[in-house]
Amino acid sequence: MTDFNGKRVLLIIGGGIAAYKVLELIRRLKERGAGVRVILTQAGQQFITPLSVGALTHERVFTDLFDLDDEREIGHIRLSRQADLIVVAPATADTIAKMASGLCNDLASTVLMASDKPVLIAPAMNPKMWDHPATRRNVKQLRADGVALIGPEEGEMAEEGEAGIGRMAEPATILAAIEERLAALDGNQAGQFLKGRRAIVTSGPTHEPIDPVRYLANRSSGKQGHAIAAALAAAGAEVTLISGPVTLAAPDGVTTLAVETAEEMLKQVEAALPADIAVMTAAVADWRVTEAATTKIKKTGKAPPALKLTRNPDILAALAAHSNRPELVIGFAAETNNLLKNAQAKLAAKGCDWIVANDVSATSGVAGGVLGGDANRVHLLTAAGSDAWPEMSKAEVASRLVQRIAEYFGDDRPRRRDEAEAHPS
Ligand code: PMT
Repeated sequence: MTDFNGKRVLLIIGGGIAAYKVLELIRRLKERGAGVRVILTQAGQQFITPLSVGALTHERVFTDLFDLDDEREIGHIRLSRQADLIVVAPATADTIAKMASGLCNDLASTVLMASDKPVLIAPAMNPKMWDHPATRRNVKQLRADGVALIGPEEGEMAEEGEAGIGRMAEPATILAAIEERLAALDGNQAGQFLKGRRAIVTSGPTHEPIDPVRYLANRSSGKQGHAIAAALAAAGAEVTLISGPVTLAAPDGVTTLAVETAEEMLKQVEAALPADIAVMTAAVADWRVTEAATTKIKKTGKAPPALKLTRNPDILAALAAHSNRPELVIGFAAETNNLLKNAQAKLAAKGCDWIVANDVSATSGVAGGVLGGDANRVHLLTAAGSDAWPEMSKAEVASRLVQRIAEYFGDDRPRRRDEAEAHPS
C-alpha cells in the first residue's frame, strides 16, 4: 500500500446519492497520508453536510464562491493551485456539462476553470442520462481536454427498478485511480517496476492487398495498442511497437515499426524476440487474398470478381508456442456477443497467459464505439479468474494493465531467459 506522503487532493463533491460513498474515500485518503480539502457543492449539501465532511478532513469545507472569509483566507485561485490533483466525485451530468463547456458560476466550476492541475472525475448518474447524446458529447470533450474518468460502473440504481451503466465507481476503485495519477505525477507510473524488461506490443489493423489499390481491413485505430506501448515505456520497459497502418504518432520512447500485412507483422514480432512481455492488441485480419492481383482489377464482365481467401498466420498463437516465448503473453479478444465465453475459449485456444476481452458490438455502450473510439470497457481474464473493469479511457486501460503486469513481475519472478543465462545468480 503506497503512502500518499502529504500529496494534496482537492475533492469536489457533487450532488448525487453516491456522495455518501465519498466520505469513505476521504477516510481512506487520510489513512494513506493524503491532505484532503473539500468543496461541497450546493447540490452535494442535499446529500451530506459540511459538518460530516469537515469531521473527516479536519479542514474547513468550502461551499460558496462569494464567501468573504474564504476569499480573504484562501481564494478560489489558490484553492485550485494548492492541490496536486483535483477529484470530482460524484461527477453529475450537470457538472460534466459545465466542465465541457467551460461554465463557471459556482465555486466548484470556477476552481476547475482556474486550475492547471490534473483532474479525475468519477461520473454517477441515471443510465439514461449517461447514454444521452449530450452527455456522450460532453464526456468526449472532457477526454479530449485531458480529463481522466473512472467509471461509471454497471449496476442497480438508487431509483427502484432501474439498472444499467451509471453507478459511481466504488471508493477503492477511485482510490486506485488516484494512486495511479499521483504516481504518474512523480514520473514513476507503476513505479518503473518494468525497468530492465523488454516488451513487444502489436497495434492497429492489418491491410491485406486485393490489388495495388484495394485491400481488406478493419476499423482498428491503434489507440488502445499505442496507449499500452506508451504506458509500458513509462513504467520503464524497453518497448517495440509493431503497428499496422494507423494515423497516430509513434509514442515517445518506443521503437515503432510500421507493417502492413499479417505476414509482415508476424515477421517483425519474431525478429523483436527475446522479450519478457507481449501484448497483442492488433486487430489482425484473419484472412488474406490468396493471390493479390498485380494490376488494378477492372469491372469487366457482369459478375463481380471472386476473392479466394487464405487463412493468415495467427501471430498470438505462434508467439505463445514459440521456443523463445515471452514469459507473459497477453492477447485481446474483440467480441460482439458471448464476450466472456468466447474470450475464455480464445485464452485456451491461443495458449496465452491473460486475455483482455472487449465488447466491440454496436451496442457496447462505449461512446464512439470501441474500435476507433477513445474509451474501452474490458474484462481481464487470467488463471485466477475474470476481473471486470468499468468504462475508462484507453490510456487508463493501458495504465491499469501495466500496473497488473508490474505486479506480476515482482522481483522474485524469473528474468528473461537470455538475461538469466548471461547473469546466473
Ligand atoms: O485499435 P483501437 O481502435 O484502439 O481498438 C482496439 C481494439 C478493439 C482493436 C483492441 O482492443 C482489440 O480488441 N484487439 C484485438 C482485436 C482482434 O483481432 O481480436 P480477435 O479476437 O480477432 O483476436 C484475438 C487475439 O489474437 C488478439 O490478441 C489478436 O491480436 C490476435 N490475433 C488474431 C488473429 C491473427 N491472425 N493473429 C493474431 O495474433
